[in-house]
Amino acid sequence: MSVYQATASAPVNIAVIKYWGKRDTKLILPTNSSLSVTLDQDHLRSTTTSRADPAFTQDTLWLNGKIDEIKAGGRLETCIREMKRLRKEIIEDKDASAPKANQVDLRSLQLSEYKVHIASYNNFPTAAGLASSASGFAALVSSLAQLYSLVPPLVSPSTLSLIARQGSGSACRSLYGGFVAWEQGVRPDGSDSLAIEVAPQAHWPEMHALICVVSDTKKGTSSTSGMQRTVETSTLLQHRIKEVVPARMAAITTAIQQRDFDTFARITMADSNSFHAVCLDTEPPIFYLNDVSRAIISVVVEYNRLSVERGEGYKAAYTYDAGPNAVIYALEKDIKEIIQLVLAYFPQTAGEFKDVLGVFGGSVQDV
Ligand code: PMV
Repeated sequence: MSVYQATASAPVNIAVIKYWGKRDTKLILPTNSSLSVTLDQDHLRSTTTSRADPAFTQDTLWLNGKIDEIKAGGRLETCIREMKRLRKEIIEDKDASAPKANQVDLRSLQLSEYKVHIASYNNFPTAAGLASSASGFAALVSSLAQLYSLVPPLVSPSTLSLIARQGSGSACRSLYGGFVAWEQGVRPDGSDSLAIEVAPQAHWPEMHALICVVSDTKKGTSSTSGMQRTVETSTLLQHRIKEVVPARMAAITTAIQQRDFDTFARITMADSNSFHAVCLDTEPPIFYLNDVSRAIISVVVEYNRLSVERGEGYKAAYTYDAGPNAVIYALEKDIKEIIQLVLAYFPQTAGEFKDVLGVFGGSVQDV
């Protein structure tokens, strides 16, 4: 008997221009464009196996070994339904005699009619501000894409990003490795709100990221409810999305193209500050940073100040998502010194500070 099964894994991405705010909560359309670096190391990935079988009676998902409910009308159901629709539209409804992809062996099958069983594992704490939803939905969509033969050149990562976006906004950016923009788009149906590659990882392989795990417990305010509150109550958000982000998107894209770390670092830190300022401007206010997060900011600021004084420019850029964990972007040549610095100021034995993970640029992998 044939087995229709595929496994894919996807890494997390950490934004340097933050996505915060939805203009359409159902389609997950953002109020501003964003840009991230896809991080790749074995211990920050989601790996997902999807299997279609005519004997299955319902779509079922296991997350880290436990059954996760696929709610009607929920994001998981939307992603699975949209992947089945794409399979049907691009492969099953077409003339099977016209070759469109390398993997044509499964084309004649009405695979989209079968129920799927999906098992997904994160090898890092789920929902701890480490972007587990981004890698999770990217891996889910990638594994279904493999299962359904929806692969390049037939289907591009940008097309798949339209579906991953509906699982978790930031997930759309994990479909590419390297430096990735999520263009907010203008169309009400979301068909132009997708991820594009700004530069592959190989363009700037010296770029590294250090994840400082300040806390690995579940965060207090989810990004979904936090964003909604910010959109409803923050006046600063309006300034951010209109006056601030568009110029930063253009400037950081140029900085990446020119491998200009100084500009990259300044914009990255400014945008992290702007995002957390908008959280503070929310009613009631949202605090994602804690004392350790703020102390890390001070250390990075001082480290850069001394480096600029020596004429060496910025050497480190901190950024924080919806949680207290710091991600420090730096060039490979400075990483060792920065790890030593962080560990000197925040000994793991002191309590709150958990771990430092060195992470490098990466991409979606089929395994
Ligand atoms: O995709 P979500 O709903 O997990 O939102 C992610 C929001 C931030 O991580 C704070 C910023 C970003 O662009 O990833």
